[in-house]
Amino acid sequence: MDLLLRGGIIIDPSCRREGPMELLIQSGRVAALAPSLGPVDVPVLELAGKIVLPGLIDLHVHLREPGEEHKETIATGLAAAVAGGFTAVACMPNTSPPVDSRETVAYIRERAARADLARVYPLGAITAGQRGRELAPMAELAEAGVKGFSDDGRPVPDSMLMLRALQSARALGLPVLSHCEDLSLAAGGVAHGGGTAARLGLPGIPAAAEAVAVARDLLLQQESGGLLHLAHISSRLSVSLLAWAREAGIRFSAEVTPHHLLLTEQAIEGFNTNAKMNPPLRQEEDRQALCEALCSGLIDLVATDHAPHHQKEKEKDFMTAPFGVSGLETAFPLLFTHLVERGVLSLYRLVEAFSTAPARVLGVAGGTLAPGAAADLVVIDPLHRKKVQKENFFSLGKNTPFQDWELQGYPVLTMVGGDVKMCRGEVKSCSSNFLPVWQGVLKEGRL
Ligand code: DOR
Ligand code: ZN
Repeated sequence: MDLLLRGGIIIDPSCRREGPMELLIQSGRVAALAPSLGPVDVPVLELAGKIVLPGLIDLHVHLREPGEEHKETIATGLAAAVAGGFTAVACMPNTSPPVDSRETVAYIRERAARADLARVYPLGAITAGQRGRELAPMAELAEAGVKGFSDDGRPVPDSMLMLRALQSARALGLPVLSHCEDLSLAAGGVAHGGGTAARLGLPGIPAAAEAVAVARDLLLQQESGGLLHLAHISSRLSVSLLAWAREAGIRFSAEVTPHHLLLTEQAIEGFNTNAKMNPPLRQEEDRQALCEALCSGLIDLVATDHAPHHQKEKEKDFMTAPFGVSGLETAFPLLFTHLVERGVLSLYRLVEAFSTAPARVLGVAGGTLAPGAAADLVVIDPLHRKKVQKENFFSLGKNTPFQDWELQGYPVLTMVGGDVKMCRGEVKSCSSNFLPVWQGVLKEGRL
């Protein structure tokens, strides 16, 4: 619908804009953006005290469909996405079956279209069946519409295969999202190989398990000229390799998750399986190095690695419970509260890391409010405080290590292509309250 957003602060890193501005939405697109647009003949939404951002984009999400619908479905994952302010997500191919054929890509796109919430960019497997033996039919997958390749959940152990993957993806103009892990060094570990794991008697994963693979992939990038994206960087050691690579002129992009930015290995105390993820939470010096790298731009962007699991699975003992955190509904307020409000990171840089940068890495539209762009945007209420309550997640994955954390900076309106998908926590077609709430807001003319 056509709408004028007025009285809010607009941040759009794609045009280096930040300040009070009015934004006109017409026919699903941003029609105009200026300090003042004069009288217009469309409904007006007053946004005093609110912040308007390009819709958030998460390029690392596990939607679990097909095959593990008890953990998440495409529909529930996308409801979680728009609730969290995301207007687009890229979904990892470690489903069952993995996304290594045009049929599975088509299936995901069809389910996503049916859900009609956030945009979905499927990622294809690097290797057939994600088995690490031979390449998946990458050209066929690209033709079917994947926006990148990954064996996420597992590395590609064979270096020659990874080199060929980078070369093939480069020819297709698509990025390779690498899960960096040397399996022989990780050796079945379940937590960071530090003091906490030792005290709890758990086998550890050393920082070198990641760093060895990061170094290898950076060297393979140099060899291939491919578009290398390094997923979920977790340690100071890896950050120091990124600094070396930048110095050496090696091209890469990298991501960090909210949990690695805010938590350390201490979160697993009491065998808390909700803090079990791969790569594991590490130490305070690692956490600080990740924050610094995000601030400086050495790490380009934030991705959630949204990895929903069923409660029954997470209730198992620490050794057998699966790795992963449900992340879409807490990511933005977590980092707004703990990095921006505390002066660690500017809001402008956070917005860039959550929207403009992931759009660039994936090579998709979005991450911008420039006139002509699709009206994919999110409105944030910087002051509204609320405790994380996993019971209220739209995601079927209730596995969060942030339960009961009091956060601010929650999204209050998410719009995709000019269509309102979430208003004040109610999600279109999912909450029975959505329509009355949105109609009430429209009638009152303010959010
Ligand atoms: O924690 C994780 N969960 N790390 C991964 O690499 C995979 C993911 C999953 O699929 O659950
Ligand atoms: Zn992952």
